[in-house]
Amino acid sequence: MTAPPFRIELFQKDKHDRTEFDCGVQELNDYFRKQLSQDIKRNVTLCYVVLDNKADAIAGYYTISMGQILLNELPEKTVKKLPRYPSVPVARVGCLAIDKRYQGQGLGGGILSDAIRRAITSGVACFAVVVDAKDEGAVSFYEHFGFIRLKSQPKSLFLTVSLELQQLYSMMFTDD
Ligand SMILES: CC(C)(COP(=O)(O)OP(=O)(O)OC[C@H]1O[C@@H](n2cnc3c(N)ncnc32)[C@H](O)[C@@H]1OP(=O)(O)O)[C@@H](O)C(=O)NCCC(=O)NCCS
Repeated sequence: MTAPPFRIELFQKDKHDRTEFDCGVQELNDYFRKQLSQDIKRNVTLCYVVLDNKADAIAGYYTISMGQILLNELPEKTVKKLPRYPSVPVARVGCLAIDKRYQGQGLGGGILSDAIRRAITSGVACFAVVVDAKDEGAVSFYEHFGFIRLKSQPKSLFLTVSLELQQLYSMMFTDD
């Protein structure tokens, strides 16, 4: 049996070489190379990398942490179905990027679905996944997958984690 071309694993600074990574967005390159390790050390985020098994290179990464959003950031029709708490729990994907050499091959969508899968199967209640887009191009990438803009932060978007989605993902994946 041949090995799959890519694998996703938890980022570890001593194991994964970030020096060549270039997604074309300086802010996301700089964060990955310079700031990420500090954030991991302080337990404010985790990072997962998608690795090219053949070239032994990092093809992409995303960061994920727990968070909350205020109810008044959500559309009326979503709020109507919620209890009147001031906020709801979310999983936040702060950064997500694919190296330029690997863009357009389905990896961005792949790691986004991996992040959603982790949020759903974390064992901690999560109403939605929230993403922070760096520009309008990234906003349209997330809208392509059904994410909706928050009211007062138009470059942050959410996707509710419905019961159906949870059931689907728990059937498709097992915890690692
Ligand atoms: C945006 C980014 C993550 C997309 O990754 P990718 O691997 O090139 O995207 P994929 O090949 O997985 O595309 C998956 C789907 O999204 C669509 N898509 C990709 N980029 C898109 C965009 N900017 N707007 C709308 N749709 C987009 C693709 O057409 C594809 O559609 P399909 O499922 O119907 O075939 C990547 O281009 C990137 O890292 N860009 C720089 C950093 C960035 O903008 N990050 C976003 C978060 S801040």
